[in-house]
Amino acid sequence: MDFIAQLKAQVDIVGVIQEYVRLKKAGATYKGLCPFHTEKTPSFTVNPARQFFYCHGCHVGGDVLRFVELQERLTFFEALKMLAERHGIAMPKREGLSDESTKLRGALFEMHAIAEAEFRSALHSPAGAAARDYLKRRGVGEAACDQFGLGLALKGGSRLVQRFQKEGFTPEEIETSGLGLRREEGGLYDRFRGRLMFPIHSESGKIIAFGGRALEPEDQPKYLNSPETPIYKKGSVLYNLHRAKEGVRKADRSVLVEGYMDVIGVWSSGVAEVVASCGTALTAQQVQSVRRHSANMVLNFDPDSAGAAAAEKSIQMLLDEHMRIRIVALEGGLDPDEFVQKHGPEAYRQRLDGAKNYFHWLADRARSRFDMRSAEGRVAVFQFLLPAIQGLGDKLERGSVVNDVAGYLQVEPGLVLENFRKLAVDRKEKVLAPPAAELIRPLDRILLGALLSSAEAREHWLPEIRQMRCIERSAGRRLYLGLAGLADSGAEITFGALHARLEEADQKILCQNLLREDEGGTLEQAAACMDQLRLEEATLRLTELKGQIKEAERSGNLAEALRLYGELQGGEKGV
Ligand code: GTP
Ligand code: MN
Repeated sequence: MDFIAQLKAQVDIVGVIQEYVRLKKAGATYKGLCPFHTEKTPSFTVNPARQFFYCHGCHVGGDVLRFVELQERLTFFEALKMLAERHGIAMPKREGLSDESTKLRGALFEMHAIAEAEFRSALHSPAGAAARDYLKRRGVGEAACDQFGLGLALKGGSRLVQRFQKEGFTPEEIETSGLGLRREEGGLYDRFRGRLMFPIHSESGKIIAFGGRALEPEDQPKYLNSPETPIYKKGSVLYNLHRAKEGVRKADRSVLVEGYMDVIGVWSSGVAEVVASCGTALTAQQVQSVRRHSANMVLNFDPDSAGAAAAEKSIQMLLDEHMRIRIVALEGGLDPDEFVQKHGPEAYRQRLDGAKNYFHWLADRARSRFDMRSAEGRVAVFQFLLPAIQGLGDKLERGSVVNDVAGYLQVEPGLVLENFRKLAVDRKEKVLAPPAAELIRPLDRILLGALLSSAEAREHWLPEIRQMRCIERSAGRRLYLGLAGLADSGAEITFGALHARLEEADQKILCQNLLREDEGGTLEQAAACMDQLRLEEATLRLTELKGQIKEAERSGNLAEALRLYGELQGGEKGV
């Protein structure tokens, strides 16, 4: 067995995927919401026996390595390496297992790990006294400090860069990492100097970037973040998700805040499901990455107008991504971190649990802009809310929200409904019709299933099947041929190996028919199917023979006609 096959045999695909997607058992397979497109009902299937995943909605599928590649945006080699490391499987030391971009990305990961260690030790060195004081003042204890890997970038000009050079990284690698900057007159210096450092992790827990907070009010900007690099795409990372995903699942909600300090404060108050978007506008990709763990989200943005505007802006996108949103507005103009410091963890958790539905929050915001004493004012508020309500994908939910909001605003329900209908008429349901599955006959499905999973079945039947002409009429013919080809090549016969041999259209047929929970069957059933197939084959041969006899008679070749006739009689006895 080569290394890749060995790794796949040792790694449980369900376990790996479950770290990213909430899966439910459904018969012999597992189902969940597809991480690769937005959907409301699960069409993402994992089949542990086949060691394969497939989404019946967007047709993405593959083995465990493919999943990690797509999910973590890694190259094949990196996915291989990551799985091997996580499962304690030694990688063979071969140069062949690497390519240029994998090498570069590997160097970047390494540099970030080194940087974190440097920053950490600087924070705990004598030179870090002021920074440690600062953290203490802000209520960040040592435990939180360690857990979040906080560190300090010292004031000097090029400590980190020098360390990298000593480790043998090239100037190009150092510049690409975003941790070093190039001087105009040549030479490199540190991007982060005199800042408190927050490591930013990928969902799998690798450090891929840093945020650096100024320690002096006059240092600008307040936060300096890593630039985009081959391992860091701002729009697809949520701060703290790698730590919070367990908590998100357990609590069946995420808490979204704006800043690093908020995450640390909120986390330390025992809320393990907190993540942040790191100062950029929330993206659909970020939402998708957390939605896989729960579709419920509590937004707790800063109470200032920028925070409220950010929340308002995010709502539509969150609704498009089918999130259920509640919003916390903290009194006293406090951001989450300040609130926890001032009122304690218990009070904060109460605010989260009592968070209002987003439309109540929107209504509250609108109330202050319109005259709520007049009916017109109340209707105006309602109209202000309509787009967000219409953004709700679910008709029933929309109806109940309309009622709820009408009650909340004390608007005549009749007025509300009329307004709502007028605006709702042209709104088309954004529902993708499920793509028609290319189904093959149950007979083929059962037989192919048996051939895939049983060496005995292959030994008995494959040689016979490949001689059969009736197979040519089956939608599964290239699947049979593919199996025969695999058997000829002496390669190991697995679902993934067959998949790899097929053209796209046949890959679809394979996935749609042989990854379903009701697929498969016993060897006895397969044997019965085999008998049925033999019958079909015999019938086909007879029909052909009859045609050939007619043809021979027509052309006056009586000897041939007689010979064929004899064959026909022999054949009919067999049927
Ligand atoms: P403190 O001010 O220390 O309490 O930090 P905070 O995390 O509460 O920050 P704040 O609420 O001011 O901002 C929220 C987030 O926006 C921060 O965590 C940063 O990710 C980002 N941010 C804030 N200021 C800047 C800035 O000047 N530049 C950049 N690039 N990002 C910033
Ligand atoms: Mn703050």
